[in-house]
Amino acid sequence: MKKPDNHILVIFGASGDLTFRKLIPAVYDLHKQELLPEKFAVVGASRTDLSDEKFREKMKDGIKKFANYKEDNEQVVNDFLKKISYISVDTEKKEDFQKLKNHLLKLDNDLGTDGNVIYYLSTPPSLYGVIPCLLGEAGLNNNENGSWKKLIVEKPFGYDLESALELNKKLSKYFKEDQIYRIDHYLGKETVQNILVTRFSNGVFEPLWNRNYVHHVEITSVENIGIENRGGYYDSSGALRDMVQNHLLQLTGLISMEPPSSFDSNAIRNEIVKVFQSFRPFNGRDIQKYSIRGQYTSTTIKGEKVPGYREEKGVEKESRTESYVAMKLFIDNWRWGGVPFYIRTGKRMPTKVTEVVIHFKRTPHFLFSNQNQVNSCNQLILRIQPDEGVLLKVGMKVPGQGFNIQNVNLDFHYSDLSNAYLPTAYERLLHDCMIGDSTLYQRADAVEAAWKFVDPILKAWKNDHNIPVYGYPAGTWGPEKADEMIEGKNMTWRYPCKNLEGDGIYCEL
Ligand code: BG6
Repeated sequence: MKKPDNHILVIFGASGDLTFRKLIPAVYDLHKQELLPEKFAVVGASRTDLSDEKFREKMKDGIKKFANYKEDNEQVVNDFLKKISYISVDTEKKEDFQKLKNHLLKLDNDLGTDGNVIYYLSTPPSLYGVIPCLLGEAGLNNNENGSWKKLIVEKPFGYDLESALELNKKLSKYFKEDQIYRIDHYLGKETVQNILVTRFSNGVFEPLWNRNYVHHVEITSVENIGIENRGGYYDSSGALRDMVQNHLLQLTGLISMEPPSSFDSNAIRNEIVKVFQSFRPFNGRDIQKYSIRGQYTSTTIKGEKVPGYREEKGVEKESRTESYVAMKLFIDNWRWGGVPFYIRTGKRMPTKVTEVVIHFKRTPHFLFSNQNQVNSCNQLILRIQPDEGVLLKVGMKVPGQGFNIQNVNLDFHYSDLSNAYLPTAYERLLHDCMIGDSTLYQRADAVEAAWKFVDPILKAWKNDHNIPVYGYPAGTWGPEKADEMIEGKNMTWRYPCKNLEGDGIYCEL
């Protein structure tokens, strides 16, 4: 594995949850694998007044709870913590950026980090446009004298098409596109990257990967948790912005893109953008026909009352924000013309699962008596999480008289690999940024193309109150209405497990 250049990682929003749960544990895991440069430091920056010691203590707790590598020897963690310092920075005060500059200069002089810096924006989105400008004005943005500066931005990249364009404009004022790394943690998942390997390293799948052999594609990413303590954010966002515009469309891009000319970051990202540009736009009545939104309602699961979406803290009592989206979309290009892509996401579903199912077309002529009853379409299931793996469903003869067939699974689980170490998404992505590989980061044009597709749906859902918000009891697979979406005889969504036992019924809000 390539070692990154010496550098300093500055995390803005360092007192927040992401730093504690994901970022510092990921940096620690990189340290344990000796994937950090020899000369390296982390600077936590946020508004809160904290001493280095207090910040380190908190980070230590995060490492203990969330790092992949569990360490019995306290001293090992303590040694790592010496690389971390903290500085309080108020974005309202320009002088704080001078203070930051001095801090970075001192660290650079003491450690010899060659002037290289990564700035990680893990702050509320309202600061995404502000911090890069303040860094620029303080002269902290330029690649100079052979050093580099990079900027990592967390999602959401804007709120709609207009704000995304505006944000990209602000970011590009002081940072060039090749300095900007827009993170979508789904792309950092090992199994998401395996989509490319499954497709482009196996001669057996690629010839079938098109409208001639694929009946439809189903992409699911659902969770059993509700919105937890994120009511304020979630109610102004909703599932379409929170999951579809980014994670689900990225998955769709990887599944449907053309083979890139090489495994180069721009070659891959060029193909993904082309997919986004080929999404058939939803116009007028299409929106109601091809997209469904839902909201979980309160129910009792296994004797315990589960609150409905509107009863969650931070959510408006009359909120029409969706916690569930199902959508049927088409990619109007040579490869996929006419093949529906069904995508769905939701909170408070019966389980947590993310998977892609390629449903192949049936054989053209039924030879066996019960072929019609067993679902004789072959399915390739790429299991992103949990129980990561790949599953191919094929028809096999039931032993005994006659020619009865049944579906069986040809099954691969990552957990069967004895040496499988699955790095967390943040570990993978942070390391990629450190070595300057932006393949798994989103480019400005892709973000804009994704918003362009989603924007008319957002607008229609906001403005047209005749478009229903379907209720679904917490712990079920979402509104029944979504089942009607899937075209084809005996075709339904794939339900990896049953509804949880509840007393709710489907209703329209
Ligand atoms: C985040 C969303 O981007 O992804 C969350 O904001 C969601 O609402 C999360 O829970 C899901 O990520 P994962 O990796 O747990 O599937």
